[in-house]
Amino acid sequence: MSVKAPTKSPFTPEQETTLAGWTKRYPHSNLGLVEALRSVQGWHRQITPEAAARVAEVFDLPFNRVWGVATFFPTFTQWKTGRHRVGLCHGLSCWLAGSTKMESCLEKTLGVAEKTTTADGKFSWETMECLGACEQAPALQVNDRLVGAATEASVVKLKDLK
Ligand code: FES
Repeated sequence: MSVKAPTKSPFTPEQETTLAGWTKRYPHSNLGLVEALRSVQGWHRQITPEAAARVAEVFDLPFNRVWGVATFFPTFTQWKTGRHRVGLCHGLSCWLAGSTKMESCLEKTLGVAEKTTTADGKFSWETMECLGACEQAPALQVNDRLVGAATEASVVKLKDLK
């Protein structure tokens, strides 16, 4: 896949400064790429080909190299997540503990299908690989927070998030 960098940057001047900063942070500029993409995911809640093309330009890397990283790590999405990103573990322990039931609960409570964002942009949810909290199955990740031994009540409580 090859995408030309947009003529107008998809980033604000402040964001451009942050991206340039990641190119200088480590002895080898490539080491800052994942951090730069984390910044982009945080700003746009997704990484589009256009944003990746601009990052490639800033890092002086081929587009495919940046796109490869952006599509490899599940932290990065090519669809726009909600402001609150909810992950439901579908690893074995969580599956045995009823994560499938939690899927329908998330869909019903938040009113959207997996990898879809609510109309107000507040929530999205998706299934994730093992969250490393198997002893607390079923586990949810709400933004950067783990919710262990999740129940339907835990899902309903998500609606209280601002
Ligand atoms: S299987 Fe769900 S946290 Fe490990």
